[in-house]
Amino acid sequence: MEKTVLITGCSSGFGKLAAKKFQSEGWNVIATMRSPEKETELNKLDNIFVTALDVTSNESVKKAVSDGLDKFGKIDALVNNAGYGGHSFLEQFTEEQIYAMFETNVFGVMRVCREVLPHMRKQKSGSVINITSMAGYMGLTLTSTYSATKWAVEGLTESMAMEYKPFGINVKAIAPGAFGTNFVASSDNNFEGGDDEIQTASAKIGAHFMTVVQQMQEQSGQVADPQEVADKIYECVTEDMPVHNIVGADAEMLKGMIDSMPRQQFIDTLDEMLLPKD
Ligand SMILES: NC(=O)c1ccc[n+]([C@@H]2O[C@H](COP(=O)([O-])OP(=O)(O)OC[C@H]3O[C@@H](n4cnc5c(N)ncnc54)[C@H](OP(=O)(O)O)[C@@H]3O)[C@@H](O)[C@H]2O)c1
Repeated sequence: MEKTVLITGCSSGFGKLAAKKFQSEGWNVIATMRSPEKETELNKLDNIFVTALDVTSNESVKKAVSDGLDKFGKIDALVNNAGYGGHSFLEQFTEEQIYAMFETNVFGVMRVCREVLPHMRKQKSGSVINITSMAGYMGLTLTSTYSATKWAVEGLTESMAMEYKPFGINVKAIAPGAFGTNFVASSDNNFEGGDDEIQTASAKIGAHFMTVVQQMQEQSGQVADPQEVADKIYECVTEDMPVHNIVGADAEMLKGMIDSMPRQQFIDTLDEMLLPKD
């Protein structure tokens, strides 16, 4: 019998690629997005049901899950992919910006899970994949709020994996490194926030940070292909994979560093790499 996946954030990036990957493997796909009226590609493919879902709205989540079930009868896998980033010092964000990022990246994931899990329990099987980030494994300057959201979802995932295993439901996280999607363009930064001192510091550290990242990318000579993430999502749903997964050459490199040295040494090494010397 055909299987069905529901994916959040299918308008671009990993979500769109994952929708196409599952479809090409013979799955039914409930491809959800905030503005389905703008979609021109997925709605032309067989067995893809494009529908509206804003992870910050209970009503929207309930309707998308219910309409998806009406269309395909069941949901075998859920991919919580919708999310966004933002760089700035903690003080630079407004309280509204901080709450909004948690609303999407953390409470959005919980909201969709809570709507889908009862159906998975009824069928005694299912897979839930939460897309986190390497920022969910490690801190980075200018990344405190985003890192807090993704770290929260790594913890959520590990606990959920234990809670839901007895019901035949697998829960896994995938932490991507940096990939060229709409992620940077859709990031909610606020470099104008905070007082003069914090603005000067964030401008200086941000410029240095970008130079280091560009140098690392030039040295590695590799362009990260977002398809890698879509393939990893499919693998995590269809293969026996661990709870925590990473994807991307930079993610592998950083995880290698995390695993090979005491945590404080890793933090000091990153500081040395990323903070300007004067
Ligand atoms: N690209 C990277 O380097 C990277 C690295 C680590 C982790 N990630 C994570 O990967 C996930 C996907 O990001 P991406 O790189 O594919 O970026 P992307 O191209 O910007 O895609 C993000 C998707 O999330 C959707 N979204 C945002 N807020 C939403 C909401 N309230 N409800 C429903 N959908 C919402 C966006 O929809 P709209 O078009 O409506 O805005 C878009 O479809 C995110 O969770 C991100 O944090 C990305």
